[in-house]
Amino acid sequence: MLRTHTCGELRIKNVNETVTISGWVQGVRDKGSLLWIDLRDRYGITQVTIETENADKQIIDTARSLGREFVISVTGKVAERYSKTDKIETGDIEITPDKIVILNAAITPPFTIEDETDGGDDIRMKYRYLDLRRNPVRKNLELRHRIAIETRNYLDKLNFLEVETPVLIKSTPEGARDFVVPSRMNQGEFYALPQSPQTFKQLLMVGGFDRYYQIVKCFRDEDLRADRQPEFTQIDCEMAFVEQEDILQTFEGLIRHLFKTVKGIDIPTLSRMTYADAMKFYGNDKPDIRFDMKFKPLTPKGETYGFPVFDNARLVVGICAKGAAEYTRKQLDELTEFVKRPQIGATGLVYARYNADATIKSSVDKFFNEEQLKHIASQMDAQPGDLILILAGEENKTRKALSELRLEMGTRLGLRDKNMFACHWVIDFPMLEWSEETSRFHAMHHPFTSPKPEDIAMLDTNPGAVRANAYDMVINGVEVGGGSIRIFNKQLQAKIFELLGFTKEDAQAQFGFLMNAFEFGAPPHGGLAFGFDRLCSLFGGADVIRDFIAFPKNNSGRDVMIDSPSPIAKDQLDELGIGLKK
Ligand code: AMO
Repeated sequence: MLRTHTCGELRIKNVNETVTISGWVQGVRDKGSLLWIDLRDRYGITQVTIETENADKQIIDTARSLGREFVISVTGKVAERYSKTDKIETGDIEITPDKIVILNAAITPPFTIEDETDGGDDIRMKYRYLDLRRNPVRKNLELRHRIAIETRNYLDKLNFLEVETPVLIKSTPEGARDFVVPSRMNQGEFYALPQSPQTFKQLLMVGGFDRYYQIVKCFRDEDLRADRQPEFTQIDCEMAFVEQEDILQTFEGLIRHLFKTVKGIDIPTLSRMTYADAMKFYGNDKPDIRFDMKFKPLTPKGETYGFPVFDNARLVVGICAKGAAEYTRKQLDELTEFVKRPQIGATGLVYARYNADATIKSSVDKFFNEEQLKHIASQMDAQPGDLILILAGEENKTRKALSELRLEMGTRLGLRDKNMFACHWVIDFPMLEWSEETSRFHAMHHPFTSPKPEDIAMLDTNPGAVRANAYDMVINGVEVGGGSIRIFNKQLQAKIFELLGFTKEDAQAQFGFLMNAFEFGAPPHGGLAFGFDRLCSLFGGADVIRDFIAFPKNNSGRDVMIDSPSPIAKDQLDELGIGLKK
C-alpha cells in the first residue's frame, strides 16, 4: 500500500498508529543528531523525524540522499511532537519512520514550490505542473471546483438539464473573431470553434428542452487582457416560456446561492440600473458600485463659465472625492498625468480643494471667483474636506475618462475592498450601436436579442434608440454575465439581420437553420451566460483569471508549456488542402 493516510490528515488521536504516507519532499533539515523531512501532498505537510542515534543506517542514508521534490513513501509510527506548531494542521504530531522508499527522484525545480515563490510568471507558466503543486494555485482550482459543483446543484434542483453542444461548428457572431479548424474531408472548408453555444441553446428550446445549462468552453480570437482568455468557460443557460423578470430572478438566485454556499456571504437582492443611468452616473456600462462618487454634471452660474475649456466643451462633469481635500500638489499632478495618458485620453484635469476652513482653492482660480467656485461645489454636493475633480470635452470621451478617474480614486481611497461584493443588474441596453468604422449598426449584445416590444415601432424610424431586453450582471465593476430575451419569430429576426446590413441571401446562408426552426413552433425563450473564470477570480479576490485556470495561455495567446500554437508538418497541411503557397 502506498499510503494509509494523506499528509494533511494525522492528528494527536493517531499517536502510536503505524501509518504510511506518500508525497513530495518539501525540504530536509539535517542537524546531525536529528533529521527532519517535510513531506507534502495536496492535503498538507507532515513532519518525519529521525533521531540518528536510534535509527537504522539505511533510513538515515536514504533521508540524507533526498532532494527537494523527490517522491517518497514513509512508513512509521505517529508520535506526539516535542515542540508543537499551529502553523500546519498536523503540527501536533510527527512520524518516526521504519521505512523510507524513494518512489521517484527529482531534479532541482526551477523555482521554489512554496506559497511565496521566487519564480517569475514566465517560468511558472513553462513549468505549470510544478506551479500547480503550490498551495495558492491549488486553492484557486479547488474554489473553481466548488463553484462548479454548487452551480450544478442549484440548476439541477430547478430542473435544468446539462446538455453538451458541439465544438466543431459554424461561426456564431458574438463580435470577436473565430478560431477555425480546417476540414480534411471537405477540403477548402472550415469549422469554427464556438464563441458561445448561443444558436444551439436556442435550438434546444425549439427542441422542447425548456431549461438548459452547460459549463462549457468558448473560444474567441481577441486581444487578451487580465480578464480575458482565448479559451474560457461559460456557465451557459437558457429557459423557455419566460420573460426577462423570470431570468433575472433565477440567476440572481444562482449568484446568491454561490455566495452563500461557497463563501458564506449573504448577498442582498440585486439592485437594477438602466444602461442609460449607468452611462450618466458612472460613464460605464459595468459600474463598480462598492462606492458612490457618482458623476455630477456642471452648468455655469451665468450665461457662460468665462473659462474657454468649459465654455467650448460639450460636457463638463465632475466627481467629488469625499475627504480628499488634503491631497498634495504631487498627488494632484499624478492624477492629471493619469487622465492625460493616451488610454484615458483627457486633455487635462480641473481640481478644486474644498478646504476644511470652507475656502476653495482650485487649479483654475484665475478664471473663477469665490462665488463661482462655491456654485460648482454646491452642484457637486461637496462638503468642506472634499476634493472636486472635473473633466470637460466631447461627451462620450469625457464620460469614459471620468469613469477611469473615478475607479482610480476609488482604488486610491481604499474603497474597492476585494472582500466586499456589490452585485447588480444593468438592464435596458440599446439594441444596436452605430459603428463609424463600418458605417453600419452592430448588435450590442448579439443579433438574436429581442427589442423591447414597446420600441419595435422605432426599428423603422430610429433604430439607434431601440432598447433591447438585454441585461448584464455586474459584480465589483466586472461584467460577470450577460444575456437577453431572444427573438423567436422569423420575420422579426429577418428584419434585424437586414438592419445589421445582411442581404436576404447572406442571412439565409448563415442563419437559415435558426430562422427555419422558428417556423416549427419556437417557444418564447431567453437566457444568459456567466463568465465562469471571471466569477472564480472574483470569488478568489483576484483580477486575473489566468490563476483560476489549470493550464492557461499567456498574454500572447501562447501555451508556453506545450509550445502552442506551433507549425505543423507539410504532409499534414497537404492532407488538409491548405498547403502554404508561396
Ligand atoms: P457574452 O459575449 O456577454 O454573451 O459572454 C458572456 C460572459 O462570458 C465572459 N467572457 C469572457 N471571459 C473570459 N475571457 C473572454 N474572452 C470572455 N468573453 C466573454 C464575460 C461575459 O459576460 N451567448 C451570449 C450569452 C447569452 O446571450 O445568453 C454570450 O456569450 O463574463
